[in-house]
Amino acid sequence: MSQRIIIDTDPGQDDAVAILLALASPEIEVLGITTVAGNVPLALTSRNALKICEVAGRPDVKVFAGAARPLQRPLVTAEHVHGRTGLDGPSLPDPVMTLQAQPAVDFIITTLRSEAPGTVTLATLGPLTNVALALAQAPDIAPRIKQVVAMGGGCFEGGNTTPAAEFNIYVDPEAARAVLAAGIPFTLIPLDCTHQALTSRARVEALRALPNRTGPVVAQLLDFFERYDEEKYGTDGGPLHDPCVIAWLLRPALFSTREVNVEIECSSPLTRGMTVMDWWRVTDRKPNATVCGGIDADGFFTLLTERLARLP
Ligand code: RIB
Ligand code: CA
Repeated sequence: MSQRIIIDTDPGQDDAVAILLALASPEIEVLGITTVAGNVPLALTSRNALKICEVAGRPDVKVFAGAARPLQRPLVTAEHVHGRTGLDGPSLPDPVMTLQAQPAVDFIITTLRSEAPGTVTLATLGPLTNVALALAQAPDIAPRIKQVVAMGGGCFEGGNTTPAAEFNIYVDPEAARAVLAAGIPFTLIPLDCTHQALTSRARVEALRALPNRTGPVVAQLLDFFERYDEEKYGTDGGPLHDPCVIAWLLRPALFSTREVNVEIECSSPLTRGMTVMDWWRVTDRKPNATVCGGIDADGFFTLLTERLARLP
């Protein structure tokens, strides 16, 4: 039984690798890709999603443009990490395939209303603005969502955008709070997990050596993407955040998890976007998320490399 998913994303080199992993995996049926402003503005994240589908040889995949800015706040982007285009690294041709006319939020709502309840997963790789908008416009879809699996937040790792906040949550904390409050089965893959999945030189060279187009393209994406975090953390390689979401769907045994209460700070300017995780259960707040605290990094990269080898 394949997992039927909507990927909500702000490509972004790591988003690109996540999308490629999903498209390379027969266990996953991608019902559509919805784009959101995040790493770069919406026009670029949408264009990048189209480019990635064409790298995968999948012009049939439907891509829908979503929110151009967070629910309440001005957009914060991350060109310093992802480059001006959001997909710096390889030189990829302009996309031939085009965006769907239907807005992303409408696609999320209509898909969840038409598919059997509890059969569609929302795999979110960027700010949660689109999902929050869909839930606000159509609260009836909440019980129909099988699960949300989101890359975002940080516990003991703190933040990567401020000392307290990880980028996806920092950009739209109100959206993250709203999605968490909807009572949907929620798996969170925070920096504590993704910082264990480092794109070491050996791992990148194994991708570059793949005898197809995708391997070398991914290696070039990672060559560019990892430089910022290598310099920041002084590590061999940078964290490969978003593909962890797809790897969770494919092989959850690669992860260690804990049921944790997660709340989102939306008021304080100092800690806005912080995921306040009650890891040691010092409050009486009920656990509302399955939080991935660790990953078998070797197993993850073996899976990733084996799957990307299947693409053109
Ligand atoms: O903090 C990492 C997350 O923010 C990743 O999803 C990356 O693509 C950016 O969106
Ligand atoms: Ca992302």
